[in-house]
Amino acid sequence: MPALEFRPLTPTFGAEAIGVPPTLEMDDATFAAVEAAWLRHGILLFRGLDMTPEQHIAFTRRLGPLHIMHPLHFNLPGYPEVLVIGNAQEGGKAIGLPRAGMGFHSDGEDKAIPNAGSFLYGVQVPDEEGDTLFADMLGAWDALPAELKQKVAGRRACYSRLRLHHVHYPHLPALTEEQKKERPDVWHPIARRHPVTGRTSLFIGRWACEVEGMDKEEGEALIKELIAFSQQPRFIYRHHWLKGDAVLWDNRCTQHCATGFDEAKYTRRMQRTTLEGSVPLLAEVA
Ligand code: SIN
Repeated sequence: MPALEFRPLTPTFGAEAIGVPPTLEMDDATFAAVEAAWLRHGILLFRGLDMTPEQHIAFTRRLGPLHIMHPLHFNLPGYPEVLVIGNAQEGGKAIGLPRAGMGFHSDGEDKAIPNAGSFLYGVQVPDEEGDTLFADMLGAWDALPAELKQKVAGRRACYSRLRLHHVHYPHLPALTEEQKKERPDVWHPIARRHPVTGRTSLFIGRWACEVEGMDKEEGEALIKELIAFSQQPRFIYRHHWLKGDAVLWDNRCTQHCATGFDEAKYTRRMQRTTLEGSVPLLAEVA
């Protein structure tokens, strides 16, 4: 096993963890170094993993309490902590959430308590396409022009599953009355302070639809501008998946976006554990 090393993926964010065992079973000192690297780099890539669902869950649980995704029917049978994503089938039945996350977002941004982190494992991946894009929202905040920083200072954006479900999931059934009650609109600060590192990131995503203190058109235009700003190539890392890759991302300071692939030709089966989070903190803007 090579020595533990964190090799940058881009000049500004993301790193690949080298020298960890393929099961991710490690001693406390190694784990502490991995956790610190995750917090420092925002996303951490592992290659050549060979994890059982138990090992996937056990590693993620060392980072914090696990979140169970709802509705439950795309969670791995026997392992409610593992969400299956993709077009894999078993016995002629889809076992994964199809076309999940195709649009920049952070997990749970449309909930009162968004998820702190997520850990996506490539179990079966297409030979071409099906990449995941990651955006560095700390870098985006740092580079944001001063007048835009002042414009968003102290403001929150509204995230609405109700208003945007049909836009982002046109291929899924409409929300039931029960699901609508479970997913009321929520408001989160646009300048977000990371609860562990204290750093400020730009917090905006595809479920945002309104800005506090602005009329509809002005708010929508600002959201569009902020999203376009954060999606510039200088803030993006594109990950092309190989079987056994896994990416651990910090939802509090990064965004991600799944991309398409030829679903008639390939099977893409990803398994994701998800960390519980905390109420997003408003960052002071100087
Ligand atoms: C997700 O949003 O968690 C899915 C990302 C992917 O499948 O590439």
